[in-house]
Amino acid sequence: MALLHGAKRLLGRMAAAATTARADREAAPSTKVELLSAAKPLQMTRLNAAFAKLVDSIPLSCLDTPSMMSLPEKQFLFGLASRYYAGKGIIVDAGVFLGGSTHCFGEGVRSNPQREEIMRNWPRPIVSYERAIVNPNMPNFFLKQRLTFSAAPGESFESELRRNIEPVQDLVDLRIGDFMDAAELDCPVEILFLDILKTPALSLRAFQLFYSRLIPGRSLVIHQDYFFEELPWIKTHQEALAEYFDFVGEIGSSAVFLCRKEIPRAVLDGLETDLLPAEQLRLASIAMHRSADPARRFFMALSKMRLVRKLQGRVAARAYLELIKTEFPEQVAQTDNRRLGHALQRAEVFLVRKPRKVQ
Ligand SMILES: C[S@@+](CC[C@H](N)C(=O)[O-])C[C@H]1O[C@@H](n2cnc3c(N)ncnc32)[C@H](O)[C@@H]1O
Repeated sequence: MALLHGAKRLLGRMAAAATTARADREAAPSTKVELLSAAKPLQMTRLNAAFAKLVDSIPLSCLDTPSMMSLPEKQFLFGLASRYYAGKGIIVDAGVFLGGSTHCFGEGVRSNPQREEIMRNWPRPIVSYERAIVNPNMPNFFLKQRLTFSAAPGESFESELRRNIEPVQDLVDLRIGDFMDAAELDCPVEILFLDILKTPALSLRAFQLFYSRLIPGRSLVIHQDYFFEELPWIKTHQEALAEYFDFVGEIGSSAVFLCRKEIPRAVLDGLETDLLPAEQLRLASIAMHRSADPARRFFMALSKMRLVRKLQGRVAARAYLELIKTEFPEQVAQTDNRRLGHALQRAEVFLVRKPRKVQ
């Protein structure tokens, strides 16, 4: 707790500096990559230099909204909305849970020097999607975060979400409901933050709804689950479109991509049917090597193991998991790192469990 308060105080002091920082709208990609922290496993921030400077202080109020994101991810979202976002399209925030990301984007837009022009184009520039129904993992999160709010699986947390984003609600078009029923967008998307791709169907839906709306040379896609050890379809869907993107870097469990050319609808429609098994495995390997952090690559290998099980069966997946253990001996040996140990444990359980039907 004391540590948290110390961090908050420090951030508060830094916040003033952030508001006077020079606005840099021309964050063109450069080949220079900036390593912001050579931190512990899974904590490395490594971003293209043009974007690295956006990871800076944030208003304290952004920290009040409980979130599954790391502090650098929140700082990055705030920095994007306040110093990168130029109002050429909207900001899409999909899978907002209690509103942490929406809060960061909202405060960012509010401190954006071009906010008046932005608001003229887009009266509510942030479009947030959330079903707001408690899932079986959420009560544990409420407990661990010591929230005064609690609810049981199946209950709604919409009122808590609305309460959290109240300070920025005038900037937000909050769309409550099943994302599978989300309506088509008729405007460009400049920043696309995705933390909703929990099934292959949700992933395809998001790619089809948003990717043809990206602005070449401008739009960023941030995949919050990219370096998560599950959800292999996110990696294959994104890597299948690699020719349309530049990889900008890694922060928390997020991977950041800059759209560099228009993506034809037909390509997006083909994502579901055109990826043969061998191609999916190749793409999963490419995704694995996006990260410079061996621990994140270990997670990506575990994610690929799930794909191997789906495409080639349990025996092949078991053989691949054993290979992973020999290829990542340091990560396997780090039994004191709970995230690494837990990921491996879940992989083992996944292999013995009957496959669940994923839509
Ligand atoms: C991992 S959480 C997002 C965490 C959030 N980004 C944060 O920083 O705290 C994923 C969210 O996606 C939402 N979600 C999952 N499936 C959905 C669906 N079909 N429609 C709408 N929202 C959905 C969940 O309710 C959940 O809040």
